[in-house]
Amino acid sequence: MTAAAANERRASARHCERRSQGTIVTGRLFLSRERTVELDVRSTAASEAAKLDLSRLFRSLTVPVHAPRRALLQRLAALGVALAARPAWSAVGEPPASAADFCGSGERGRRLWVPGDDGYLGRLSPLDGPVTLLASAARSPSAAVSRGPLGYATRTRRRHYTNPTLVLQRGQRVRVNLVNALAQPTIVHWHGLAVDGNNDGNGSFLVKPGGRYAYDFEVRNRSGMYWYHPHPHGLTAAQTYGGLYGAVVVEDDDERALRAALDLVPGRTEIPLIMQDRGADTYRATPHDMTHGLVGSDLYVNGTKCPYLDVGSRIYRFRMLNAANARTLLIAFRTAKGALLPFTLIGNDGGLLPAPMRCERAFLATAERIDVLLDLRDAAVGDSILLQTLAFDAMHLEMAHAAPADPHAGHAAPTDAHAGHSPPADPHAAHAHSAGMHLPASAWPDGAPRALLELRVRQRIAFDRAIPERLSTLPPIAASSVAERTFRLGFADGRWRINDRVFEMGMPPIEVQRGKVETWLIRNDPSSMPHAMHLHGFPFEVLGREKSPGDVAALEIDPQGRLATDLGRKDTVLVWPGESVRVAVDFSHPYAGPQAYLFHCHNLEHEDGGMMLPVAVV
Ligand code: C2O
Ligand code: CU
Ligand code: CU
Repeated sequence: MTAAAANERRASARHCERRSQGTIVTGRLFLSRERTVELDVRSTAASEAAKLDLSRLFRSLTVPVHAPRRALLQRLAALGVALAARPAWSAVGEPPASAADFCGSGERGRRLWVPGDDGYLGRLSPLDGPVTLLASAARSPSAAVSRGPLGYATRTRRRHYTNPTLVLQRGQRVRVNLVNALAQPTIVHWHGLAVDGNNDGNGSFLVKPGGRYAYDFEVRNRSGMYWYHPHPHGLTAAQTYGGLYGAVVVEDDDERALRAALDLVPGRTEIPLIMQDRGADTYRATPHDMTHGLVGSDLYVNGTKCPYLDVGSRIYRFRMLNAANARTLLIAFRTAKGALLPFTLIGNDGGLLPAPMRCERAFLATAERIDVLLDLRDAAVGDSILLQTLAFDAMHLEMAHAAPADPHAGHAAPTDAHAGHSPPADPHAAHAHSAGMHLPASAWPDGAPRALLELRVRQRIAFDRAIPERLSTLPPIAASSVAERTFRLGFADGRWRINDRVFEMGMPPIEVQRGKVETWLIRNDPSSMPHAMHLHGFPFEVLGREKSPGDVAALEIDPQGRLATDLGRKDTVLVWPGESVRVAVDFSHPYAGPQAYLFHCHNLEHEDGGMMLPVAVV
């Protein structure tokens, strides 16, 4: 990137902003590989936009980059446009993805599997009595979904489910029996739910093949989309990849108010998008995968490859979960003409934000969730809109100085026998100079763009509801004058580490005082890769980011360096190479005695490799 471009980015227009009355005009200066500058000007005044159709909403002009810069800037200034440069390695310059390159192969789309009241991901409200989840390798009888070889089977008196979506009410008591019909030990963890250590499923207790475990807890979380997946240390990646995961939807008054305001109906206009990339059915992580995380060649949304969804011209709610082992997505919507279609971010890991945010793109790392509204009122019948992951620099090249992983890193007890020896040279280091060359050939490398879902507009619908200005109330965690703890993320002797430590069963935990607020400063080494750091049991507040790399800094919305997706409450936060993220955690809980949890990277290969520390609340 040129210095001029860097300057322009500093004077950056915001890519997510609070929805407000009146006209918002933003512009972006794109520097593409073809050395052209593309200017994209849009007006998003709600009232004006309603009168325009999509094709007229977006205009772009292309000028050669050797045009005098000042003249160009004057022209832009005359348009009243704030500028932000897009880094040179970014997606622009490639032709926009279209239905034709969907899935990269011209394969015909398949109708998205939308969870209903039974079957795969079916919605199940366990209001009376326990639910049994049978972890098994039984194949689903339905040809409509192609999930992995493993699943959680559930049956009630009338219905059969695989990986049911548990629909819970805030304050409700939940009882779940896990029965293990796998050939390996397992345990279920309730990702994001604030429960006691015994119900957390953190892997300190494992269910043997043929065994069972009874969970019994109260739902204390805000409304939102949480999830469940296995957590047996060293086997988490293989079992999750195999297909063992499902969603938990918590409902409360804020949730009901939102659905009423926008006439959102689950399964019709409120659609979960649970995304996982896969390759072969059998999980086989190479030493390279153990270091970088395993990325698959195909993406499945709700178990559907190359999915499309028929929609009408109204507001839709998409509740996205990245259930991938390691892949990060940069979520955006695009029209067939290639323009980004802004969406409204209304929630994330920890439920609804206080107020909606208008966004163009949002990172979604492994285990994270985003809740978005897409306004299709201006779409015409026949329009096609693509949900995409855009190109970004996945920053695996920051590992140029790191040693290759120990092939047994995920399974053997950690030893530091090699400490003190000089690490062998990284086989990829020689390529690290040219961006994009540092990864070995992969059908779909981390950070490469891909269409994820096609929305086909089929129907005109009269729809006059407005997105509420307030979604929830969420007082900040009182984090002033509290002690700060620092966590350093890095790589040494073939292992990813937190504060130089690698997880072992029974290792001494981080001890925190029950009822105390702490701030945690999570600092990622510059020679690293992004790590999706997750804390069990206690939703946290992101206070700020420092030294964010270009793709991340471009999405900043406030002086603290936060992204729109950092607002509200989080349980997983992506920390980029060289970046520091500060979070506030309130360790209050209502349980008797000390409670055990975990803090780890949710790149499942990193987690299984020991990038994890126990946390004891005492
Ligand atoms: Cu979703 Cu400890 O994990
Ligand atoms: Cu968790
Ligand atoms: Cu990691």
